[in-house]
Amino acid sequence: MNCKPVIVVHGGAWAIPDCLAESSTDGVKSAAQQGFLVLKHGGSSLQAVESAVRILEDNPAFDAGHGAVLNADGKVELDAIIMDGRNLSVGSVSCIKNIANPITFARSVLEKTPHAMLTGEGANAFAEKMSIPTVPTKELVTEHAIKEWEQYQKYNQSVTTLFNTEKAHDTVGAVAMDSEGNVACATSTGGITNKMVGRTGDSPIIGSGGYADNFVGAVSTTGHGESIMKVTLARHVLFNIERGKSPKDAADQALDYMYNRVHGRGGLIVVSKTGEWSASFTTKRMAWAGIDGGVLSYGLNPGEHFQVSLDNIR
Ligand code: GLY
Repeated sequence: MNCKPVIVVHGGAWAIPDCLAESSTDGVKSAAQQGFLVLKHGGSSLQAVESAVRILEDNPAFDAGHGAVLNADGKVELDAIIMDGRNLSVGSVSCIKNIANPITFARSVLEKTPHAMLTGEGANAFAEKMSIPTVPTKELVTEHAIKEWEQYQKYNQSVTTLFNTEKAHDTVGAVAMDSEGNVACATSTGGITNKMVGRTGDSPIIGSGGYADNFVGAVSTTGHGESIMKVTLARHVLFNIERGKSPKDAADQALDYMYNRVHGRGGLIVVSKTGEWSASFTTKRMAWAGIDGGVLSYGLNPGEHFQVSLDNIR
């Protein structure tokens, strides 16, 4: 098969403040470019989404890896998922500590264990065995994350209330289709500020934070994890596509359903098995970028869709 490669990334659906708007947009654009280079050089969609998400995890503007938000104890606990649409193999990790690139660790779970998901101490022990690099927690924590955490502590606001008023920092992800027509997804997060210790959100949950199936497409989601899990948002979008909707209509309907049914807001990116893709959100903003056919598209605010040619990218 010789398909046109596609990659789409997001940097989290939330009320991104103006001070993070430029870095968020620049961050998703460079992650999409990195992922696209992998595809352009013949890499698989699985390699491309891992590579793009690593860039986002390394960027402190985003809630994943460096820049992750803090839990109720002021600590970092990370979740991630990666899924291969060829055979539905999946690796996910939850409540892990001291790992700067959870997505690469999730890929080790996919490739080197008979399991789909590892959590907590057991996961960290396996990471050590796999020689996954660790970092001290303080290296993952940004000033912005500390300020956000202090605000939550001071006003004693519940995470649910804050998310529904669109003030929660959130998650990164990527979906891709390679030249063989294989799709993959990857999602990585620090979760939501002030979450209970041990809380696992939607991101590492198969069918909620992400799903990839060559027969339909691939999705990565972002937003209020408890709401996303209740409606299995990623699989819900693919179900809509299976019933004949376009990726955009499938995404918009699933997000509307989540809002109407459980009052949860969020966003998602999706690529279908035919290479059509969409980025949608019901929060104030979501930084996203997508590349196909030599064109980089990106946006941040509702309805925005800027385009630039990739002619100069090698
Ligand atoms: N969407 C990320 C989380 O709720 O954990």
